[in-house]
Amino acid sequence: MKIAVAKGDGIGPEIMEAVLGIFKANHVNLEYEYVDMGKWVFDKGFSNGMTPEAQQTIETLGILFKGPMETPKGKGVKSVNVTARKTWNTYANKRVFQTLHGVDTVFSKAGIPIDITVVRENIEDTYGGIEHMLTHDVALSRRFITRPGSLQVIKYAFEMASKKGTRRITCGHKANIMKITDGLFLECFYEVAKDYPDIKADDIIVDDLCMKMVTRPDQFDVVVLTNLQGDIVSDLCAGLVGGLGFAPSANIGDHICIFEAVHGTAPDITGKNIANPTALLLSGLAMLRHLGLMENAAIIENALLYTLEQGYRTGDFGDKSKPALNTTAFAHAIINNFGKTPEHGAKPMLENKPITPTVFKLEKNPLIMSKEMEEETIVGVDLFVESAEQPTEVADKCLKHTLDLFKLVTISNRGTQVWPKGSIFTNLVNQYRCRFESINDAPLTQRDIIELCTRVSADFKICSTELLNMWGDKKAYSLAQGQ
Ligand code: NAI
Repeated sequence: MKIAVAKGDGIGPEIMEAVLGIFKANHVNLEYEYVDMGKWVFDKGFSNGMTPEAQQTIETLGILFKGPMETPKGKGVKSVNVTARKTWNTYANKRVFQTLHGVDTVFSKAGIPIDITVVRENIEDTYGGIEHMLTHDVALSRRFITRPGSLQVIKYAFEMASKKGTRRITCGHKANIMKITDGLFLECFYEVAKDYPDIKADDIIVDDLCMKMVTRPDQFDVVVLTNLQGDIVSDLCAGLVGGLGFAPSANIGDHICIFEAVHGTAPDITGKNIANPTALLLSGLAMLRHLGLMENAAIIENALLYTLEQGYRTGDFGDKSKPALNTTAFAHAIINNFGKTPEHGAKPMLENKPITPTVFKLEKNPLIMSKEMEEETIVGVDLFVESAEQPTEVADKCLKHTLDLFKLVTISNRGTQVWPKGSIFTNLVNQYRCRFESINDAPLTQRDIIELCTRVSADFKICSTELLNMWGDKKAYSLAQGQ
């Protein structure tokens, strides 16, 4: 069985060497093909941070085990970590956070055990990085939440929870504010939940989730979230169990999976051989289990847990009165403890049943569509226009262009209605959203909208437009605050 390995930047090569050394000592039956990804690949001029050969190898082998990678700053390039997850559609990011005996935290000291799995959507949301300056003062980020994308990750979360024997799965969201985007994610959550009647499915607003996680983390089991909220909540969970040095992650897709630690390249400790390899090791253990190498995974994990229980530590955690080991010595301590059983949380010894990852040869890009389109009618348009004038002046100019096809319904500034009603205390920026709807809800054509844009452009720079669609009798857009 062969996998692709990218050592990464910063502490990456140091912790990767430690982890692969542990695998070798345990006779893990894997071959490694090293691939070129990361900072020096960017520096060589490959704008996505990986060579074409690396991409080819990963697409052939189906598994990438990677160290952390640096994104060069100020060059306008995108993170290779995010590019890899998105390019290969690893739609679910699974991060397991468990109490590790020997790693003291406020919760371990209080006797509160933690075992939380965060499943984070990994492709969509603001991570599309689709951003524009609309005026010199106004930046826009587009946040895509899709039905098929949400269903993929939520189905994975339920399936994983069901295999793990989980009794509760919680959806974290902000659907009270982002009614359409987070509302869609939440709708998909309860749609999938119907197929898993044995698992209690509930939801919680993400700010309340954060508060409850830091007061009673033992209440939570599997938590599924959209990308950005999942990113933040999973780092919060890393803090609960002792920090980034203990946070593994698996990026799961249908064809390709990527295993990596949550932490970054730690430039402040690079080259000193003092980094904690535990997070990468835990990620590697998730990979071994994914590949059916159960016995290897159990022996190594039991040795790791035993080593932590015995008080062995690297400099970033543990009892400061005990000497810290360097990365290499910590890895050797784990190897010396092969065959030992930890007092707490021993992992069951299951036989190896190696699975060779199947990578499909794809002829074309898969189109993931979840539903037949409902009947759709265009009933209006939001025009985002640049103007430093007062709302009434903007309205007067817009009203000139409505003719007998459109009515001007509302004008908002930063989402707050300022016309026809509003407050003099609302601060304005130099960009308004002007909502035009068809008179009597008569269906409009794209040509009607383009003609309206042409007329309005005589008075304003139009920065952006969004169609207002009806699906049957349901509005496919939100109302302005105060509308
Ligand atoms: P970071 O995770 O590298 O470091 C934050 C702090 O945690 C530092 O004090 C560091 O010394 C410590 N730390 C991290 N991992 C550790 C370990 N294994 N053992 C001991 N201490 C550890 O985050 P930062 O500084 O924000 O990012 C540095 C670089 O890493 C950036 O270029 C960033 O883009 C990249 N990065 C890459 C990721 C990936 O490859 N998946 C994820 C996060 C950041």
